[in-house]
Amino acid sequence: MSNVSIKTVKEVDALRTASQMAAETLLGVGEMIRAGITTEDINTFVHEDTIRRGGYPAPLNYHGFPKSVCTSINEVVCHGIPCDRVLVPGDIINVDVTTIYNGFYGDTSATFYIGKPSAEAKHVTEVSRRSLQLGIAQVRDGARLGDIGAAIQEFAEGEGCSVVRAFVGHGIGRRFHEAPQVSHVGKYGSGARLRAGMCFTIEPMINLGTYEVEIQEDKWTALTADRSLSAQFEHTIVVTRNGCEVLTRRNRPLANSEIFPDPFVVSAARAL
Ligand code: MF3
Ligand code: CO
Ligand code: CO
Repeated sequence: MSNVSIKTVKEVDALRTASQMAAETLLGVGEMIRAGITTEDINTFVHEDTIRRGGYPAPLNYHGFPKSVCTSINEVVCHGIPCDRVLVPGDIINVDVTTIYNGFYGDTSATFYIGKPSAEAKHVTEVSRRSLQLGIAQVRDGARLGDIGAAIQEFAEGEGCSVVRAFVGHGIGRRFHEAPQVSHVGKYGSGARLRAGMCFTIEPMINLGTYEVEIQEDKWTALTADRSLSAQFEHTIVVTRNGCEVLTRRNRPLANSEIFPDPFVVSAARAL
């Protein structure tokens, strides 16, 4: 774990700025997303909104990724490529926004409901939302990396869902993906110790069926092997003495994702 960098206060400030830009763009996605638009329309919005804020969309040309955002519908686990696919009522779609600003990355995603979700779609989405919250709740100086995965796996499997192994959370800073790898499964008390100043994402992908995935011909789109539904939420965080700061926290409700936004919920809870 000596390869996991401890960020300085200045570096965390820069990560927070980039992260808040990504969070604002994701809030904007919530406001524009609806049945009848295409994933290409989401790409156009994210690209233009990111540039308008003075940032750059990290996915564009990242290891050859052709678009500015990942849009992953229904059985797509992650890395869906925006195209002419029209959103229809009943779809669930993860939109994963990563912004580069001043040389630092901020990475956050959410799953949105298009129209009224089926019971199954709502279940996998709410389990993934809660899984991220429970993973975040494990983080503090002195905790272990395995505690995060253990809390997520315990909850998600208890809800009859599975946790994807093939993709993990990641350290983040002046690079999109750096050490450590943050598994979303694990054992309490195992793995490297977390230390204040470490910055990484937690981004559990939760499936209704098997956790196995398949990569499509395009070399990017990851599907559930059994074509069951999958959902995901992601935050970028910094470890602190007593817990963590969610750098990509939101300052207002996320439209088309929170089914019953509660205006009285404190901002700390809203952020998750
Ligand atoms: N944003 C994704 C993550 O959470 C990575 C996307 S890589 C891309 O790590 F190339 F597909 F954009
Ligand atoms: Co990420
Ligand atoms: Co991401």
